[in-house]
Amino acid sequence: MTQGPFPATRFRRLRRTEPLRRLVRETGLQTSDFIWPTFVRGGTGERDDVPSMPGVERLSVDLLVEAAREAADLGIPAICIFPYTDASLKTETCEEAWNPDNLSNRAVSAIKEAGIDIAVMTDVALDPYNANGHDGIVRDGVIVNDESVAALVRMALAQARAGADILGPSDMMDGRIGAMRAALEADGFKDVAIMSYTAKYASAFYGPFRDAVGASGALTGDKKTYQMDPGNTDEAMRLVERDLGEGADMVMVKPGMPYLDICTRVKRDFGVPTFAYQVSGEYAMLKGAAERGWLDGEAVMLETLQGFKRAGCDGILTYFARDAARLLNG
Ligand code: PBG
Repeated sequence: MTQGPFPATRFRRLRRTEPLRRLVRETGLQTSDFIWPTFVRGGTGERDDVPSMPGVERLSVDLLVEAAREAADLGIPAICIFPYTDASLKTETCEEAWNPDNLSNRAVSAIKEAGIDIAVMTDVALDPYNANGHDGIVRDGVIVNDESVAALVRMALAQARAGADILGPSDMMDGRIGAMRAALEADGFKDVAIMSYTAKYASAFYGPFRDAVGASGALTGDKKTYQMDPGNTDEAMRLVERDLGEGADMVMVKPGMPYLDICTRVKRDFGVPTFAYQVSGEYAMLKGAAERGWLDGEAVMLETLQGFKRAGCDGILTYFARDAARLLNG
C-alpha cells in the first residue's frame, strides 16, 4: 500500500461529515451482534436490583419471558440465562445443577414455550449450586476435574432437554466439551450448539456477577487452578484448537476489554465464530463512572462494543445489549 505525501493525501477529507465517515467506516455495530446475559430469580412478578451492576435486575421467570420478548423485538438474536439460586439449594455435590425443574431450566422452557424467536443460551458450571462457590466439585480442598465433568454432562443434558439452543460451558474443566458433545449426540440432541468459554481468564472483573448470582458469599479461595493465567496467549490458542477438536461450534474470550489481543489472534488464526464476554466488572466500571458524570455512558457503551467488533469478534455477550439495541434502533 502506498500513500501519497501531504497534501496529495489529507485524511481529514473523509472525516469532514458524518455521511463521509459512515461511508468509509470499516467496522459496523448491529443489534444482531449481541447476546444478552440475564439473571433469573424465583417467584412471580418479582424483580430486584443488583447493586454492583446499576440498571441490571434479577427477574422472576414470568418477567424474564417479557424481557426475552422485548429483546427479540429489538433484533437481539440470543439471551443467556444465569440463575440466582437460594442458599438452601447449594450442596457440596451440586445436585440442583441437573434438576430438570431448577430455576434456569424453568426459565429456558418458559421462553421456548412462549414461542419467542430468540436463541436461548445457558451456563454450564456448578458454581450457582455449589456450597463452596466453585465451578467444579471440591474434594479435600481440590477442585476435581473428572468428577466435575461427569456432573457437568448431567447438567448440560438437563438444559438441552429444557430446550436450550446454545450451551455455554464456563467451568474450564479439561475434557468437558468432548464429554458434553458425545452425550448430546447419544441422547438425541445433535443440533444443540456449544459456545465454549474457551479462553476464560482468572479475572478480578467477575466480582459483580458473583453478587448477582449469590455466589460471592459461598466462594472460598480463588479459581486460578482452572481459569487461565492472565499472562498467557499461546495457551489460549491451544485451548481453542482443543475445544474445536472436541466439538465446540463457537468459542469465547472472557473478560473482554483487557483481552482484545486474544480475540484478534483467535479470529485471525482460526476463522471460527468468535465471541467476547464484556463481563460484569467491565459493565460496573463504565456504569459507575457514567453515574458520577465522569464519562458519557452511551458513548462509551457504543465505543467499547464497536471495539470488540474491530478486534475481530463476531458478537459480544454484554449487559448493555438491550440499551445498545434501543439506541441503535433509534
Ligand atoms: C461462572 C461464571 C462466571 C461468569 C460467568 N459464568 C463467574 C466466575 O467464573 O466466577 C462471569 C460473568 C461476569 O462477570 O459477567 N462459571
